[in-house]
Amino acid sequence: MKLTIGVKLFIAYFVITSSIVWIVTDKVLLRVTKGIDEAAEDVMIDTSNLLAQIIGGDIKNNTLDVDHAGNLISTYLDRELNADIYSVTKKNPNLQVYITNQDGIVIYDSTGIRKGKDYSQWNDVHDTLQGKYGRRSSAFNPDIANPSSDQKAMYVAAPIYHQNEIFGVLTVVKPTADLKPYIIEQKKHIEEYAIYLFLISLLFGAGASYAVSRGTRKLVKYTTALSKGENVIAPKIRQIEFSELSQAIEKLRVDLEGREYVEEYINTMAHELRTPITGIKATAENLFMPMSSSQRERFVNNILKANTKMELLVNRLLNLSRIERRDQLENVEKINVKELIKDVLQSPTRKSNIARRGINIEYSVEREFTIKAEKLLAEQALSNIVDNAIDFTPVNSTISIKVSESNTHVNIQVQDQGVGVPEHARRQIFRRFFSSARPDTGKQGNGLGLRFVKKIMSLHNGKVSLRNRFMEDGAVATLKFPIR
Ligand SMILES: Nc1ncnc2c1ncn2[C@@H]1O[C@H](COP(=O)(O)OP(=O)(O)O)[C@@H](O)[C@H]1O
Ligand SMILES: [Mg+2]
Repeated sequence: MKLTIGVKLFIAYFVITSSIVWIVTDKVLLRVTKGIDEAAEDVMIDTSNLLAQIIGGDIKNNTLDVDHAGNLISTYLDRELNADIYSVTKKNPNLQVYITNQDGIVIYDSTGIRKGKDYSQWNDVHDTLQGKYGRRSSAFNPDIANPSSDQKAMYVAAPIYHQNEIFGVLTVVKPTADLKPYIIEQKKHIEEYAIYLFLISLLFGAGASYAVSRGTRKLVKYTTALSKGENVIAPKIRQIEFSELSQAIEKLRVDLEGREYVEEYINTMAHELRTPITGIKATAENLFMPMSSSQRERFVNNILKANTKMELLVNRLLNLSRIERRDQLENVEKINVKELIKDVLQSPTRKSNIARRGINIEYSVEREFTIKAEKLLAEQALSNIVDNAIDFTPVNSTISIKVSESNTHVNIQVQDQGVGVPEHARRQIFRRFFSSARPDTGKQGNGLGLRFVKKIMSLHNGKVSLRNRFMEDGAVATLKFPIR
């Protein structure tokens, strides 16, 4: 399966946004965790210093009443709290406290486990005894050698002063796991936002991809239709690049068609004119010879006939080229359809053709119909399909003309009793210069008639069709004029 540009864009968009959202969320979570740790450390510094200050005040004669201090601390640690911090409820201080002397030996421990141990090498005690800020992050339970982040605790120490000397160190311990609920809570929020963000941008991406693929699809459809020679109008696309492209294609099409058109015109002109020109030349040469006046008359007549033929062809081509360049009607008027048909049938050449071939014209017009059209053009459209019917129907047959009305159109139908349009010609009949031999004479027309009719009808927002009759011999040509 080949992926369309829209799908590819969407996939690319999906991958990019999801990784951005993922990376940013991850980084934000890391920052939040760190931020919470830092804030907690800040508070622990205050706590340890406050406790150290209070304990320092208890020192008398260079000795600390450890029992008294221990009591004080354990009462503090046992305080019952019921602090609702957003979603987390804090029940008690949840700290451990130990105190060392100047040598780093633990003289008090709120848990009792550390008492008597030498802590002088732990950073918190060591650095504080040196007069610096002492802290460490290590296992909450000293027996665990390689603690995970949840098993760690923060140790923050403060010096206990007595008479401006460092008397000992007080360390406050808080397990990292205590901070976890806050982190989890924030994480939940951040992830929620991330999902919203992701969904919104995905929706946007889908919209953008759809717009792009719709534009390309329209263009592809348009160019495919053009390449098949179909008569399509350039699609309307809002996206500026696509609409420019579409206009460029349209311009190219018009240019190319124009060039093709001129070529075709010149070719047929040359081709069609060759016969009469050669004829005129030969006849004119003959006229140099001595001959009777009746012979001369015949030759001159031949020249005039050839001349008429040339005139006709030139006029038709000019008419067609004039109308092909038009894009709107000029003198639209109300036309009585009955009158229109009468006018067409009464033109002298047509009348004589009908008579010559013994054709019977039958026409039924239910009632008075009017159309809005440019009179000359409507006449020419009808003339052309009537002429075709006269050409293709057998001698002594009937052509029937019917006028009817649908909801939207007035339809003028011309039916003959000829052989109809052969299958192979069906797609070509509206092309310029397509013409088939007339069954009677074997002669061809110039193949401009139906093309002209089609152009006239499209200028009128109408339609022309040519179909074979159902279950009967003959073709039926229909002109549909819209009712406005
Ligand atoms: N009434 C008809 N019956 C059969 N074929 C028709 C009829 N009208 C038109 N056609 C077909 O359509 C072709 C094109 O018609 P048209 O454009 O009028 O050119 P032309 O009349 O010069 O041949 C005809 O050559 C013929 O093949
Ligand atoms: Mg014709």
